[in-house]
Amino acid sequence: MKTILAVVVLFVCLYSLFPGLPANTGSDLVAKGEDIFFNETFGGNGRTCVTCHRPEDNWRITPAFIATLPDDDPLFAHEFMPEFRENFEKADLLREWGLILMNPDGFDDLENDFVMRTVNSLRSVRTSIEGMPHEGMENQLDFMEPLTGWAGDGAPGDGSLRSFAIGAIIQHMPRTLAREPGVDFRLPTDEELDALEAFMLTLGRQEELSLPLPLKGDLALRGQDLFIDRDNKNGRCNVCHINAGASSLQASVLPQGRIVNLGSIVHATGEEFAPGKPTELIPLDDGYKDTHQFNTPPVVEAADAGPLFHSGFVKSVEEAVDIYNLDTFRESEVGIALTRRFGTETDLSASEVLAIGAFLRVINALDNIRETTELLETSLEKGILENERARELIRRAAYETEDAIIVLDGVNLHPLAVGRLRRAEELIHSAREATFSRSGHVRDALVELQRAREILIES
Ligand code: HEC
Ligand code: HEC
Repeated sequence: MKTILAVVVLFVCLYSLFPGLPANTGSDLVAKGEDIFFNETFGGNGRTCVTCHRPEDNWRITPAFIATLPDDDPLFAHEFMPEFRENFEKADLLREWGLILMNPDGFDDLENDFVMRTVNSLRSVRTSIEGMPHEGMENQLDFMEPLTGWAGDGAPGDGSLRSFAIGAIIQHMPRTLAREPGVDFRLPTDEELDALEAFMLTLGRQEELSLPLPLKGDLALRGQDLFIDRDNKNGRCNVCHINAGASSLQASVLPQGRIVNLGSIVHATGEEFAPGKPTELIPLDDGYKDTHQFNTPPVVEAADAGPLFHSGFVKSVEEAVDIYNLDTFRESEVGIALTRRFGTETDLSASEVLAIGAFLRVINALDNIRETTELLETSLEKGILENERARELIRRAAYETEDAIIVLDGVNLHPLAVGRLRRAEELIHSAREATFSRSGHVRDALVELQRAREILIES
């Protein structure tokens, strides 16, 4: 009897050490994908996917983050590998603007045929890569290909999320500009592609929001009304960014699925617009298959993702909203189509711009809180033998909380929520350093996060 009891006790103890077991195959595939994403160089120049898609920087990379990297980071391969001195990256544009060189139309004329784009955040790819069917418009979306990247031209073949990895390896990771498969890099196996896809699909938001949300602040509520713009009289943001996501109704409003390059709308000189002095000439981006059309990106994640737009020339969400006030937007193909369809031009007052900005900041902060909460809760499920994993999750939770603080505090929105978030951040840092009391700190942080959330939205 004693032996049986001892065996049961041992089993229970062991189970509490490995509560995640037995592992299912789905999570194995994700773990494998994560490992490839972080470590696999595919026999290339030393870059990996995480070189440009950093968890600390919202799974993309911004100039502020780039400034913290050592000179021998593989991101700067073109600065220390002689074969990349020309036509691989533009050193100044990468350091100052976070712009990466791409040749979506092929590698035949490297000198002249390239575009410069910011790195897409991989948060919420699950919801942003395909037009989600909305009531009454299912058929209109049937014709659409997957909407990957800024313009849908970054992935070879079927343009899918799975294929995007192949394009990324050939574009960013070769040993030389000859880009010969098997020599300059190796192509991923089908299994590796499945794993990468499975991993990327787990990042960030898994569902679209359903607007309107029961927000608590007057300014954000007003911004939400303006964003949804029920009568389509002015902002009409929801026409393109339905539910602040990436899928859109534009197919029924506008002649084509993708919309005209807003980057080029604001200048029309044949060069990409950038305030201040761009250090090198940035050629005009021809978007999807030379049409100058770009995918509608999700905006739930925009407030802490800046520099915004494919060319990174917009610094804040307020500045982004103001783009739609410019004559260059109103007079563009897409601006004219909106006016023709709804009868009025977009004309947002300064206070309306601020209100929409506040709305975008609040939904971003709420998403940061959701993400932090999920990361912390998952960390609590990890047993002693998964200590490192738990620490990594807590580390990522700290970045998310920090982002929520920055987006709200940047314009003095919801100071009480910011106070709660700062307290949560301190507790998360204590949890990272703690050896024994980790879960206690994590639980306390979860309480603070919940309180912050309750200040922003009705539960
Ligand atoms: C040198 C920097 C760099 C590296 C390395 C890199 N990427 Fe990217 N990634 C970018 C840029 C720039 C974009 C935007 C490209 C575009 O839209 O045309 C992007 C966009 C993406 C997108 C589109 C996301 C969306 O929202 O639709 C996916 C998916 C992606 N990358 C996956 C990967 C994978 C997988 C790897 C590793 C095999 C990788 N990337 C390596 C710079 C990089
Ligand atoms: C006609 C469709 C359309 C309408 C209407 C529209 N947008 Fe956009 N929006 C886009 C497209 C397409 C892009 C990306 C363009 C690019 O990079 O050149 C974009 C980009 C953005 C971005 C930057 C996202 C990022 O990750 O860089 C923000 C923020 C934004 N829009 C907010 C708004 C707001 C607020 C409104 C309403 C005032 C609005 N948009 C109306 C299509 C639209």
